[in-house]
Amino acid sequence: MSILKSFIVFEGLDGAGTTTQIRNLARYYEFNRREYAVTNEPTDNPIGRLVRQVLQKKIITTPEALALLYAADRSDHLYNPSYGITRLLEEGKIVMSDRYFYSSIAYQSVECSRELVKAINRFPSPEFLIFIDTPVEDCMRRIEKRGEEKELFDRAEFLTAVRKNYLAELENLPEGVNLLVVDGRASIEETEAEIRKYLSGFSL
Ligand code: TYD
Repeated sequence: MSILKSFIVFEGLDGAGTTTQIRNLARYYEFNRREYAVTNEPTDNPIGRLVRQVLQKKIITTPEALALLYAADRSDHLYNPSYGITRLLEEGKIVMSDRYFYSSIAYQSVECSRELVKAINRFPSPEFLIFIDTPVEDCMRRIEKRGEEKELFDRAEFLTAVRKNYLAELENLPEGVNLLVVDGRASIEETEAEIRKYLSGFSL
């Protein structure tokens, strides 16, 4: 199993706060004049835009087709010759991604077979995986506060199953993946400090 050095992945349920934390970590690298790139899945590239159309119910398809679309978006995200993550890493940047294949394993396995989801997500692992563990009730409260139109996955029961899948997957990480689980109920500042402290123990 190959590991992508200097690749940091943030995962969590919808509303867990990964986007805020990634932004704050990027600010830290900016301050330290370390070259970095911030990215996210689903991407804003053509396949990622298709995924969002499914989430917004503008395109109706099957859970399997959606799982394949997420995986296709991910393959492009990793290996696209002009903007792919592997290229950014080769340029010497730290790459931080808001979600990666762990999201597919956690979310898509609720409605598709886990074997299928795993088979189509044989991608290299990140060197760091930061899981922001927020109870479903807190996530639901935050999602409601945002007032966004509810996407397909913003449902308590569904998120409970997703959280269970995440925790099972985190138990089985290959060697070489450094996992940090942070309590998503802590303040933004506390979480930010914990993440920085953890990463400062490695040479990046
Ligand atoms: P995201 O963009 O993180 O959510 P938001 O629009 O709230 O910032 O992700 C959109 C949704 O897609 C989210 O519910 C998680 C889900 N998702 C999957 O189901 N599988 C995946 O592989 C990924 C990357 C995301």
